[in-house]
Amino acid sequence: MSESLLQFGPEIWIADGPVTSFHSFPYPTRMAVIRLSDGSLFVWSPVTLSDSLGASVNALGPVRHLVSPNSLHHLFLGEWKSAYPAARLYASPRLRRKRRDLCFDAELSDAPEPEWAADIEQVILRGSFALTEVVFFHRGTHTALFADLIQNFPPDWFKGWRGFLARHGGIVAPIPSAPSDWRASFLNRRAARVSLDKVLAWPIERVLIAHGDLPTGDGAAFVRMAFAWLLGHDGAT
Ligand SMILES: [Fe+2]
Repeated sequence: MSESLLQFGPEIWIADGPVTSFHSFPYPTRMAVIRLSDGSLFVWSPVTLSDSLGASVNALGPVRHLVSPNSLHHLFLGEWKSAYPAARLYASPRLRRKRRDLCFDAELSDAPEPEWAADIEQVILRGSFALTEVVFFHRGTHTALFADLIQNFPPDWFKGWRGFLARHGGIVAPIPSAPSDWRASFLNRRAARVSLDKVLAWPIERVLIAHGDLPTGDGAAFVRMAFAWLLGHDGAT
Protein backbone atom coordinates (compact mmCIF):
# COMPACT_ATOMS: atom_id res chain seq x y z
CA MET A 1 0.00 0.00 0.00
CA SER A 2 1.24 3.44 -0.87
CA GLU A 3 -0.48 6.70 -0.03
CA SER A 4 1.81 8.79 -2.17
CA LEU A 5 1.19 9.70 -5.77
CA LEU A 6 2.54 7.62 -8.58
CA GLN A 7 2.65 9.02 -12.09
CA PHE A 8 0.41 6.95 -14.36
CA GLY A 9 1.09 9.02 -17.46
CA PRO A 10 1.45 12.63 -18.58
CA GLU A 11 -0.80 14.80 -16.36
CA ILE A 12 -2.36 11.81 -14.59
CA TRP A 13 -1.38 10.24 -11.26
CA ILE A 14 -2.72 7.49 -8.99
CA ALA A 15 -2.55 6.85 -5.26
CA ASP A 16 -3.41 3.65 -3.44
CA GLY A 17 -5.22 4.17 -0.14
CA PRO A 18 -5.86 1.86 2.80
CA VAL A 19 -7.81 -1.37 2.45
CA THR A 20 -11.48 -0.86 3.36
CA SER A 21 -14.07 -3.48 4.28
CA PHE A 22 -17.01 -4.00 1.91
CA HIS A 23 -19.49 -6.55 3.31
CA SER A 24 -16.50 -8.07 5.16
CA PHE A 25 -14.46 -8.31 1.94
CA PRO A 26 -11.11 -6.48 2.09
CA TYR A 27 -11.15 -3.90 -0.69
CA PRO A 28 -8.00 -1.98 -1.60
CA THR A 29 -8.71 1.58 -2.73
CA ARG A 30 -7.19 3.64 -5.50
CA MET A 31 -7.75 7.21 -6.64
CA ALA A 32 -6.62 9.24 -9.61
CA VAL A 33 -5.63 12.85 -10.06
CA ILE A 34 -5.74 14.50 -13.47
CA ARG A 35 -4.22 17.91 -14.09
CA LEU A 36 -6.43 19.82 -16.48
CA SER A 37 -5.28 22.19 -19.19
CA ASP A 38 -5.87 25.17 -16.91
CA GLY A 39 -3.52 23.68 -14.30
CA SER A 40 -6.26 22.73 -11.83
CA LEU A 41 -6.75 19.23 -10.47
CA PHE A 42 -9.61 16.79 -11.06
CA VAL A 43 -9.69 14.22 -8.24
CA TRP A 44 -11.43 10.93 -9.06
CA SER A 45 -12.61 8.56 -6.33
CA PRO A 46 -10.55 10.11 -3.53
CA VAL A 47 -9.02 7.81 -0.91
CA THR A 48 -8.38 8.87 2.66
CA LEU A 49 -6.37 12.06 2.74
CA SER A 50 -3.08 11.56 4.59
CA ASP A 51 -0.64 14.41 5.19
CA SER A 52 1.82 12.94 2.70
CA LEU A 53 -0.84 12.48 0.03
CA GLY A 54 -2.10 16.01 0.57
CA ALA A 55 1.42 17.40 0.21
CA SER A 56 1.96 15.45 -3.02
CA VAL A 57 -1.35 16.66 -4.45
CA ASN A 58 -0.69 20.27 -3.45
CA ALA A 59 2.60 20.18 -5.33
CA LEU A 60 0.70 19.43 -8.56
CA GLY A 61 -1.71 22.35 -8.47
CA PRO A 62 -4.96 23.61 -6.94
CA VAL A 63 -7.68 21.00 -6.28
CA ARG A 64 -10.83 22.23 -8.06
CA HIS A 65 -12.98 19.17 -8.72
CA LEU A 66 -13.85 16.28 -6.37
CA VAL A 67 -15.63 13.49 -8.21
CA SER A 68 -17.43 10.35 -7.01
CA PRO A 69 -17.76 7.95 -9.96
CA ASN A 70 -20.58 6.00 -8.30
CA SER A 71 -22.63 5.96 -5.12
CA LEU A 72 -20.20 3.63 -3.33
CA HIS A 73 -17.07 5.72 -3.80
CA HIS A 74 -18.06 8.52 -1.49
CA LEU A 75 -16.41 7.62 1.81
CA PHE A 76 -13.66 10.24 1.73
CA LEU A 77 -15.38 13.07 -0.15
CA GLY A 78 -16.13 14.87 3.10
CA GLU A 79 -12.57 15.00 4.33
CA TRP A 80 -11.35 16.22 0.92
CA LYS A 81 -14.03 18.90 0.81
CA SER A 82 -13.00 20.03 4.29
CA ALA A 83 -9.36 20.19 3.22
CA TYR A 84 -10.20 21.94 -0.07
CA PRO A 85 -13.31 24.04 0.58
CA ALA A 86 -12.93 25.91 -2.70
CA ALA A 87 -13.14 22.67 -4.70
CA ARG A 88 -16.46 21.76 -6.30
CA LEU A 89 -18.08 18.51 -5.21
CA TYR A 90 -19.82 16.39 -7.88
CA ALA A 91 -22.41 13.74 -7.11
CA SER A 92 -22.73 10.53 -9.06
CA PRO A 93 -26.30 9.27 -9.69
CA ARG A 94 -28.25 8.64 -6.44
CA LEU A 95 -25.45 9.94 -4.22
CA ARG A 96 -27.20 13.16 -3.17
CA ARG A 97 -29.92 11.14 -1.46
CA LYS A 98 -27.39 8.87 0.19
CA ARG A 99 -25.10 11.61 1.48
CA ARG A 100 -27.43 14.37 2.59
CA ASP A 101 -24.68 15.53 4.93
CA LEU A 102 -22.58 16.65 1.97
CA CYS A 103 -23.24 19.81 0.02
CA PHE A 104 -22.80 18.88 -3.65
CA ASP A 105 -22.22 21.60 -6.21
CA ALA A 106 -23.44 19.61 -9.21
CA GLU A 107 -24.59 16.22 -10.42
CA LEU A 108 -22.59 14.32 -13.03
CA SER A 109 -24.30 13.82 -16.37
CA ASP A 110 -23.49 12.28 -19.73
CA ALA A 111 -21.78 15.48 -20.76
CA PRO A 112 -18.48 16.52 -19.24
CA GLU A 113 -18.53 19.73 -17.24
CA PRO A 114 -17.22 22.69 -19.26
CA GLU A 115 -14.34 22.99 -16.79
CA TRP A 116 -12.90 19.62 -17.81
CA ALA A 117 -14.45 18.97 -21.24
CA ALA A 118 -11.20 19.74 -23.03
CA ASP A 119 -9.38 17.03 -21.11
CA ILE A 120 -11.92 14.45 -19.95
CA GLU A 121 -14.94 12.70 -21.49
CA GLN A 122 -17.61 10.85 -19.52
CA VAL A 123 -20.54 8.47 -19.94
CA ILE A 124 -23.12 7.29 -17.42
CA LEU A 125 -23.34 3.52 -17.74
CA ARG A 126 -27.08 3.05 -17.41
CA GLY A 127 -29.30 0.02 -17.16
CA SER A 128 -28.83 -1.10 -13.53
CA PHE A 129 -31.51 -0.63 -10.90
CA ALA A 130 -28.90 -0.92 -8.16
CA LEU A 131 -25.77 1.03 -8.97
CA THR A 132 -24.93 3.46 -11.73
CA GLU A 133 -21.36 4.44 -12.48
CA VAL A 134 -19.96 7.32 -14.47
CA VAL A 135 -17.08 6.17 -16.66
CA PHE A 136 -14.42 8.74 -17.51
CA PHE A 137 -11.85 8.99 -20.29
CA HIS A 138 -8.66 11.03 -20.09
CA ARG A 139 -8.01 12.29 -23.58
CA GLY A 140 -4.33 13.03 -23.06
CA THR A 141 -3.36 9.46 -22.22
CA HIS A 142 -6.32 7.64 -23.81
CA THR A 143 -7.14 6.17 -20.41
CA ALA A 144 -10.58 4.90 -19.34
CA LEU A 145 -11.30 5.03 -15.60
CA PHE A 146 -13.53 2.42 -13.91
CA ALA A 147 -14.33 2.29 -10.20
CA ASP A 148 -16.40 -0.85 -9.59
CA LEU A 149 -17.51 -1.84 -13.09
CA ILE A 150 -14.19 -3.59 -13.65
CA GLN A 151 -12.50 -5.33 -10.73
CA ASN A 152 -9.33 -7.31 -11.22
CA PHE A 153 -8.13 -8.83 -7.98
CA PRO A 154 -5.01 -11.02 -7.86
CA PRO A 155 -6.00 -14.71 -7.54
CA ASP A 156 -4.67 -14.92 -3.98
CA TRP A 157 -6.13 -11.64 -2.68
CA PHE A 158 -9.26 -13.09 -1.07
CA LYS A 159 -8.82 -16.10 1.20
CA GLY A 160 -11.09 -19.06 1.98
CA TRP A 161 -14.79 -18.70 1.26
CA ARG A 162 -14.28 -15.08 0.22
CA GLY A 163 -11.88 -16.32 -2.46
CA PHE A 164 -14.46 -18.80 -3.66
CA LEU A 165 -17.18 -16.15 -3.83
CA ALA A 166 -14.85 -13.67 -5.55
CA ARG A 167 -13.92 -16.18 -8.23
CA HIS A 168 -17.55 -17.21 -8.59
CA GLY A 169 -18.49 -13.53 -8.71
CA GLY A 170 -16.10 -12.93 -11.58
CA ILE A 171 -13.81 -10.24 -10.13
CA VAL A 172 -10.52 -12.16 -10.07
CA ALA A 173 -7.74 -11.99 -12.68
CA PRO A 174 -7.33 -13.07 -15.39
CA ILE A 175 -11.08 -12.58 -15.95
CA PRO A 176 -11.94 -9.09 -14.67
CA SER A 177 -15.50 -7.84 -14.45
CA ALA A 178 -18.13 -6.31 -12.22
CA PRO A 179 -19.37 -8.58 -9.41
CA SER A 180 -22.04 -11.04 -10.56
CA ASP A 181 -24.78 -9.56 -8.35
CA TRP A 182 -24.21 -6.15 -9.87
CA ARG A 183 -24.19 -7.58 -13.39
CA ALA A 184 -27.53 -9.21 -12.59
CA SER A 185 -28.95 -5.79 -11.66
CA PHE A 186 -28.61 -4.57 -15.25
CA LEU A 187 -32.16 -5.45 -16.22
CA ASN A 188 -32.18 -2.86 -18.97
CA ARG A 189 -29.51 -4.44 -21.14
CA ARG A 190 -30.37 -2.27 -24.08
CA ALA A 191 -29.65 0.92 -22.14
CA ALA A 192 -26.44 -0.60 -20.81
CA ARG A 193 -25.26 -1.52 -24.28
CA VAL A 194 -26.01 1.95 -25.61
CA SER A 195 -23.88 3.39 -22.81
CA LEU A 196 -21.12 0.85 -23.34
CA ASP A 197 -21.03 1.58 -27.06
CA LYS A 198 -20.20 5.18 -26.20
CA VAL A 199 -17.39 4.01 -23.93
CA LEU A 200 -16.03 1.67 -26.60
CA ALA A 201 -16.10 4.48 -29.14
CA TRP A 202 -13.32 6.17 -27.20
CA PRO A 203 -9.81 5.36 -28.45
CA ILE A 204 -8.97 3.50 -25.24
CA GLU A 205 -5.34 2.48 -24.87
CA ARG A 206 -5.01 2.17 -21.10
CA VAL A 207 -7.39 1.35 -18.25
CA LEU A 208 -7.29 2.61 -14.69
CA ILE A 209 -9.33 0.74 -12.07
CA ALA A 210 -9.94 1.32 -8.36
CA HIS A 211 -9.83 -2.29 -7.19
CA GLY A 212 -7.14 -4.76 -8.11
CA ASP A 213 -4.21 -5.02 -10.47
CA LEU A 214 -3.88 -2.39 -13.14
CA PRO A 215 -4.08 -4.03 -16.53
CA THR A 216 -1.20 -3.95 -18.95
CA GLY A 217 -1.50 -4.35 -22.69
CA ASP A 218 -4.38 -3.40 -24.96
CA GLY A 219 -6.82 -1.33 -22.88
CA ALA A 220 -9.71 -1.60 -25.32
CA ALA A 221 -9.37 -5.40 -25.40
CA PHE A 222 -9.35 -5.44 -21.60
CA VAL A 223 -12.59 -3.46 -21.45
CA ARG A 224 -14.24 -5.75 -24.00
CA MET A 225 -13.19 -8.79 -21.99
CA ALA A 226 -14.51 -7.26 -18.77
CA PHE A 227 -17.86 -6.52 -20.42
CA ALA A 228 -18.21 -9.84 -22.23
CA TRP A 229 -21.27 -10.42 -20.03
CA LEU A 230 -22.94 -7.50 -21.76
CA LEU A 231 -21.43 -7.78 -25.23
CA GLY A 232 -21.65 -11.52 -25.70
CA HIS A 233 -19.24 -14.29 -24.82
CA ASP A 234 -16.53 -13.30 -27.23
CA GLY A 235 -16.70 -9.61 -26.36
CA ALA A 236 -17.91 -8.78 -29.86
CA THR A 237 -20.27 -5.87 -30.36
FE1 LIG B 1 -15.50 0.22 -5.15
